[in-house]
Amino acid sequence: MTPSENDPPPGPNPHDFPADFRWGLATSAFQIEGAALEDGKGPSIWDAFSRLPGAIAGGATGDVACDHYHRMASDLDLIADLGVNAYRFSISWPRVMPEGRGQVNAKGLDFYQRLVDGLLERGIEPWVTAYHWDLPLALEQKGGWPNRDTAYAFAEYAELLSRALGDRVSGWITLNEPFNAATLGYGAGTHAPGRRDPKAVLAAAHHLLLAHGLSVPVLRANSRGVAASNVGIALSLNRVEAASSGHADQLAAQVLEGLLNRWFLDPIFSRGYPGDLSIFVQQLMPEFPSRDLEDIGVGIDFLGVNYYTRQLVRAPKAGTEMLGMNAMLRTLGLPLEVVPETERGNPVTAMGWEVYPDGLFSLLNELNREYAPKSMVITENGAAFTDRLETDGTITDTSRLDYLASHLERVASAITAGVPLGGYFAWSLMDNLEWAEGFEKPFGLYHTDFATQERRLKASGAWFRDFVRNARES
Ligand code: FCB
Repeated sequence: MTPSENDPPPGPNPHDFPADFRWGLATSAFQIEGAALEDGKGPSIWDAFSRLPGAIAGGATGDVACDHYHRMASDLDLIADLGVNAYRFSISWPRVMPEGRGQVNAKGLDFYQRLVDGLLERGIEPWVTAYHWDLPLALEQKGGWPNRDTAYAFAEYAELLSRALGDRVSGWITLNEPFNAATLGYGAGTHAPGRRDPKAVLAAAHHLLLAHGLSVPVLRANSRGVAASNVGIALSLNRVEAASSGHADQLAAQVLEGLLNRWFLDPIFSRGYPGDLSIFVQQLMPEFPSRDLEDIGVGIDFLGVNYYTRQLVRAPKAGTEMLGMNAMLRTLGLPLEVVPETERGNPVTAMGWEVYPDGLFSLLNELNREYAPKSMVITENGAAFTDRLETDGTITDTSRLDYLASHLERVASAITAGVPLGGYFAWSLMDNLEWAEGFEKPFGLYHTDFATQERRLKASGAWFRDFVRNARES
């Protein structure tokens, strides 16, 4: 069939989204705030890690980043200019509890009070991530996430946050991507704290999950209004597919999907750890009281889905370069590898991630079928592409615009198919510090000039703004 004039234009249809849909942008504290040691903030593991030679591309640190700590009010105006009704940000634990436990830093807490109030004044719902990877260094020095005490410290921190902000926020996200925090931080060593200890990985993952489970009732109990029943977690959920129907490749996909997705989903949805993986991870499994699984399975009000790409997997082949995900899999000794993105025939982003919007549609349907969450929210989705700033100050980032449009189209299809989706947060508000990649991988809808801190709306941002406006008016 050839397209005719009467066909709807390609791309998502703003009318496919429900009236109460949450439209937002997402950021995290370490990636934008700067003011790393100001106003009583304690150091985080990322502050320490970024000072290790070669840890972050270009020797970048979070000392200034987007200087958001000092530019919060004007950044809130930029958020409002995009016409969204929600904003997801994270709280820096060491900014409010410099030692991770005990003493509270009033100036740090005040920053987040002003942030929340500033959003509300602009008619934007605050969605708060309690932990987006910047553990107080003081807690890492006591063993970090592989130490069980860190989970209890987190529940105390959640108590502080919910007492201070629980009357005004709209949603709580306990943790961001525990998979990445555990594997990259403690196994591959490519993220803070930079440890390379396979034995620490599943202990860290378990204590992250326990921290989630212990904090959910605290956040609910101290919140008033909508946030009391809107507590969830943001997981990095990949669409995992096997490279062939052969047994070894199918098994490889089952194992990777198990580790990336089910290792976290199953216990959160009260199923305990996936039994089919035990043979692969026996040596790495920490001991823990069985009561932990009850705590972890306490239940969530929404599942936050961070989706970027697909993992295409096969049994290991000799000679594949052990980079990125493959390096991490090797440290864990797993019988699989991901097929290099460049061999898959689809476009890739500046991160080297395959652009694969169909994976989002399949993933959302599968999650709905398998776990039937009350609600799901896309807590992150977006793409890094190298941008060109034209002499007239414009940035025509067609690849990012296409990425967002094609993914939103699949979100709309999933809603039509009956998936209970409550919102979509684009990653990210502005170009920021992309962890170990430094400032070299821009994900923003606004361009950030890191020398002057000037922000400029990109074509993708203008498109998103217009799309959100149409959707909210329809
Ligand atoms: C996710 C992180 C987020 C951002 C994006 C690109 O894994 O949660 O902070 O770095 O990737």
